[in-house]
Amino acid sequence: MTKSKKNPVIHAPKGVPDYIPPVSPEFLAVRDGFTHQAHLAGYEHIELPIFEETTLFARGVGESTDVVSKEMYTFEDRGGRSVTLRPEGTAGVMRAVIEHGLDRGQLPVKLVYAGPCFRYERPQAGRYRQLQQVGVEAIGVDDPALDAEVIALADRCFRSIGLQGYRLELTSLGDHTCRPEYRKKLQEFLFALPLDEETRRRAEINPLRILDDKRESVREMTAEAPLMLDYLSAETREHFETVTGLLDDLGVAYEINPRMVRGLDYYTKTCFEFVHDGLGAQSGIGGGGRYDGLMAELGGQELSGIGFGLGVDRALLALQTEKLTVGAGNRVDFYGIALGAEAKRAMVKIIHQLRVAGLRADMAYGDRGLKGAMKGASRAGARFALVLGDQELASQSIAVKDLDAHTQQEVTLHGLEVFLAEQLKTPAPGPA
Ligand code: HAM
Repeated sequence: MTKSKKNPVIHAPKGVPDYIPPVSPEFLAVRDGFTHQAHLAGYEHIELPIFEETTLFARGVGESTDVVSKEMYTFEDRGGRSVTLRPEGTAGVMRAVIEHGLDRGQLPVKLVYAGPCFRYERPQAGRYRQLQQVGVEAIGVDDPALDAEVIALADRCFRSIGLQGYRLELTSLGDHTCRPEYRKKLQEFLFALPLDEETRRRAEINPLRILDDKRESVREMTAEAPLMLDYLSAETREHFETVTGLLDDLGVAYEINPRMVRGLDYYTKTCFEFVHDGLGAQSGIGGGGRYDGLMAELGGQELSGIGFGLGVDRALLALQTEKLTVGAGNRVDFYGIALGAEAKRAMVKIIHQLRVAGLRADMAYGDRGLKGAMKGASRAGARFALVLGDQELASQSIAVKDLDAHTQQEVTLHGLEVFLAEQLKTPAPGPA
């Protein structure tokens, strides 16, 4: 087909990835592999709206965060309401939990979700405006064993797809009893430094973020800054030590990073990030933490929760850097090739019946002849080609070509389904 001169080609919006074959099966394998691990740990699926009232994120995620102040896709709907494409999943989960009273039942409420989030960030490798996450939230119980469960689960998700080249960074951000005092100490320290106007303003709004400043000059100046970990209350210290002790028991390796800064405001106590060193600047493949005040902030009870968001896009990139593939495989097992109009008519029915019987089958369209059709079979990764011509039709049989073993058998049409199902029981020969 020639491209139309009149109609210009339309591209996907900037920073929004498409997942097309052969990468799309990998995308599914990663996303569904992660949710499978969460199901194994007792998390139930929750399906949430892609857009919510803007207030939810402003209040839940925090006005001072980049995510809310600079990156939200916010617009007025036709009824004049301000709505926002979700930039993350936690606030929406919490809204739904409160709205449907899930927190009035058995605690913790354990939920898993998957889907796109939207952030108007500057696109670059691994940083997209539509990003895909799998997340879990365990809500209603402030138990360090639950922190350990969530962190170990994230680790298992990455291991389950084969990733190895990542690190887990961990810290505690304290809680309402100790963080205000630390914040004051940190601000005192920062305001005594010769910071530029912009950085100073940031230090007023969110001093912790200065600790994460990537500029060498700021890094040097803040090398001796007070750290939250040295100001934890006895209770939050004990919580943190229990979490690290449990991770030791579970064999989940971690590094304490006392300067970790998360981009969302709701975090308290345990915070973590999974970092893949093969990914360059956008190295965070997943992150999460505990949030004590979020439910109350959104009009619910005073209950704590903990969760994570894993980046499916970045996990896929990480797989590439480790030269691994997951979920790739043959598209179908059987590929029908009909030679002639009458055979074609019969083949349409045969393939339909195989699909009804639960077998994976496709066929050649467009009458390209045997050679062209065999190429189609190989592109589909089929293990068997089913060839039907006039001769076979006359004898009510079909030629079944084993494409790996290079053998062929005549099989009666009557017993075809049973015969083919039997063939699949023998595993395909692997690479030599
Ligand atoms: P987050 O750290 O903002 O946390 O995002 C989680 C993960 O999403 C990141 O580690 C990263 O892999 C991926 N991600 C974020 N932004 C982008 C982007 N622009 N392009 C590609 N991938 C991206 C949250 O969203 C929290 N809701 C996690 C959470 C759940 N905390 C508690 N519960």
